Amino acid sequence: MTGAGEGTTDGSYEVEVPEAYPDGERVVDPSGSDEERRIEAALRPRRLADFPGQGRVRDQLGLVLEAARRRGSPPDHVLLSGPPGLGKTTLAMIIAGELEQPIRITSGPAIQHAGDLAAVLSSLVEGEVLFLDEIHRMSRPAEEMLYLAMEDFRVDVIVGKGPGATAIPLELPPFTVVGATTRAGLLPAPLRDRFGFTGHLDYYATEDLVTILHRNAALLEIEADEPGITQIASRSRGTPRIANRLLRRVRDWAQVHGQHVVDEAAAHQALALFDVDALGLDRLDRAVLEALCTRFRGGPVGLSTLAVAVGEEPDTVETVAEPYLVREGFMIRTPRGRAASPSAWQHLGLTPPPEAGGGVPGHGTPGRFGGGDPDAGTLPLGG
Ligand SMILES: Nc1ncnc2c1ncn2[C@@H]1O[C@H](COP(=O)(O)OP(=O)(O)OP(=O)(O)O)[C@@H](O)[C@H]1O
Ligand SMILES: [Mg+2]
Repeated sequence: MTGAGEGTTDGSYEVEVPEAYPDGERVVDPSGSDEERRIEAALRPRRLADFPGQGRVRDQLGLVLEAARRRGSPPDHVLLSGPPGLGKTTLAMIIAGELEQPIRITSGPAIQHAGDLAAVLSSLVEGEVLFLDEIHRMSRPAEEMLYLAMEDFRVDVIVGKGPGATAIPLELPPFTVVGATTRAGLLPAPLRDRFGFTGHLDYYATEDLVTILHRNAALLEIEADEPGITQIASRSRGTPRIANRLLRRVRDWAQVHGQHVVDEAAAHQALALFDVDALGLDRLDRAVLEALCTRFRGGPVGLSTLAVAVGEEPDTVETVAEPYLVREGFMIRTPRGRAASPSAWQHLGLTPPPEAGGGVPGHGTPGRFGGGDPDAGTLPLGG
């Protein structure tokens, strides 16, 4: 394999082409496998006071729950939205814990028919928390049944089939729906409006991840020092799930190398082995940036052209690498395609060509960002 972005004798550049990433194989993948979710269950904080970060949502939710407790009635329905791995499921469990109520867990994809939902609803007990994960993936008829249940605590049970079918209204005891979604924008407005409280979770600050990692290291009986934990936290892309996973990989490394304490050197070496760099970029992220900078002089370049250059599907580049690169300001999306920012060049240790302007709109050649087909250009192959 050629070193990424190394100049070759004919003056062209070769970019390291990563192998395909099957789902869940990346160590910085924010979504978790089933196995991983089982490990995670043991690490979830059980009380709001033990939940670091998300200060605003935590305070607001704390107030809503406390008020409900004092009134002695269930709180408003709660919608939790935000990217994967930030704590939506954890908060749903905490809500039930704080209310000292049982929790029923199901998800949008599990509710195919309205009848599935009717069965769940009609067996709820008073005050119970109904956790609906991936609520944006519920079927239409189930959604409509849920509107009625959330608003009037009533469900129409259909008895019989065909022309003889009758709807029997069934009163439900008051309960609380906690919905979770990574795609709040996909929720129909009538459903969104039935949630009295919406909490949007955002990426965590490194300090909060440090707190989370200290606690989890203790739970997993991993001895770790502050610099080691800080290294892991700063490479975790603001996501507790990734932080927990990196912690386990560093623990593995330390164990195999006979090291008792997870320190900075262990974190460095273990994460280098797993291709996670100082800012949490992995091989694919860097390959994308390198292609942008070295092959396309910082862009802008169309998504599919860029994807070909790194040997990936456009969809993979767009959904796997791009969100973090854009969020961290390494990549800029322009009407004419993707461009590298000055910090991308800097992070790769490269100097932008003088006329490239680092891909920042307003700094480039006039007109570079106006219309046109971003994929119209050909790959600037050397030779
Ligand atoms: N604030 C937090 N403090 C401690 N641990 C956290 C926090 N937020 C998340 N975690 C941990 O991160 C992992 C993932 O969290 P969780 O399953 O709640 O995320 P999620 O938002 O439901 O993700 P998904 O959208 O993929 O379902 C769990 O192990 C959880 O314990
Ligand atoms: Mg979840």
